[in-house]
Order: sequence, then structure tokens, then C-alpha cells
Amino acid sequence: MVDERQDSGTLKPTTAHPAIRVIMMPRDAQAEGRVFGGHLLSLMDQAAFAEALRQAHNRYVTVSVKEVEFHEPVYVGDVVGFYAETTRLGRTSLTIQVEVRADRRRSPGRNVRVAHGEVTIVAVNESGQPKPVFE
Ligand SMILES: CC(C)(COP(=O)(O)OP(=O)(O)OC[C@H]1O[C@@H](n2cnc3c(N)ncnc32)[C@H](O)[C@@H]1OP(=O)(O)O)[C@@H](O)C(=O)NCCC(=O)NCCS
Repeated sequence: MVDERQDSGTLKPTTAHPAIRVIMMPRDAQAEGRVFGGHLLSLMDQAAFAEALRQAHNRYVTVSVKEVEFHEPVYVGDVVGFYAETTRLGRTSLTIQVEVRADRRRSPGRNVRVAHGEVTIVAVNESGQPKPVFE
């Protein structure tokens, strides 16, 4: 991934572990077993949220999801890892790259990059107004 991290003094280093790992279930897929892109989007959002919480404990909301690409299909039974890396720290926002990799159920040992995207998350106060990520 491209590292655009700014002023990373207060950011925790990237972890090699996925933010979340999920088994794809039939309810998440079309009839022929391909998983809905929207399901993966939801999980990408959750992975970014987990990464934001790892960086700093705040209330967060997602303000944007950009540059999402699906490279290869994901199938029911695949075990999918969502790797999240904070690449930009703003005043109230964190920009997080999420890379999605699937362990193929039908091809043991095969790990495939299936999607990636950029999620921007904003720290908010009790009223839902932006607040500094680090105070
Ligand atoms: C996110 C939200 C609090 C931002 O409020 P706002 O008044 O627009 O706040 P600001 O203009 O001060 O922007 C706050 C931060 O978000 C960033 N931001 C705003 N719009 C953005 C966009 N489209 N893409 C990326 N970052 C964006 C700003 O750059 C700023 O970051 P910084 O402080 O690190 O520079 C507000 O838009 C909101 O509540 N949206 C709904 C969020 C939500 O419910 N998400 C779940 C969807 S169901």
C-alpha cells in the first residue's frame, strides 16, 4: 500500500494482522455463491472502524468510502481477512486503506487479494460534531 501518513508521531504502527476475519455465508451471496459487494463494503467499513479504535478511543462516524475496487469474486466458504492501515491522520479524521484478502475454501492454501478501498472516519463528540482524534 502507498504510505501517505502525515505526522505519524501519535499513530500506532501498522499491524500485520487483519483488523477482522470473517467466513462468507450463503446469506451474504447471490444464488450462484458469489458474495455481494455490498456485504464486503460493510465489512470494510467495520475493519476501518476497528483500526480507528486501535489508534484512539473515540466515537466515530464514517464520512466517506472511496476508490473501492473488487478485483476477484469472493465465494461462500472463503475466509476473508480485512487488513486496515491508517495512512493519513487529520485533525478530526483518519484515512484508512483497507485491503481484502480471501483464503479460498475450494483451493486450500490459496490467498487472493480480492478488493481494496479507502475509508475516512471522523471522531465526533456526544453531539455528533467533529472533535480532534487526539486531544
Ligand atoms: C462526518 C460529519 C460529522 C462531518 O461533519 P462536517 O461538519 O462536514 O465536518 P468538517 O467539515 O469539519 O469535516 C470533519 C473532517 O471530515 C473530513 N471530511 C469531510 N468530508 C469529507 C469527505 N467527503 N471525504 C473525506 N474527508 C472528509 C474533513 O476533512 C475533516 O477532517 P480533518 O479535521 O481531519 O481535516 C458529518 O458529515 C456527519 O455526521 N455525517 C454522517 C456520518 C454518518 O452518519 N456516517 C454513517 C453513515 S450511515
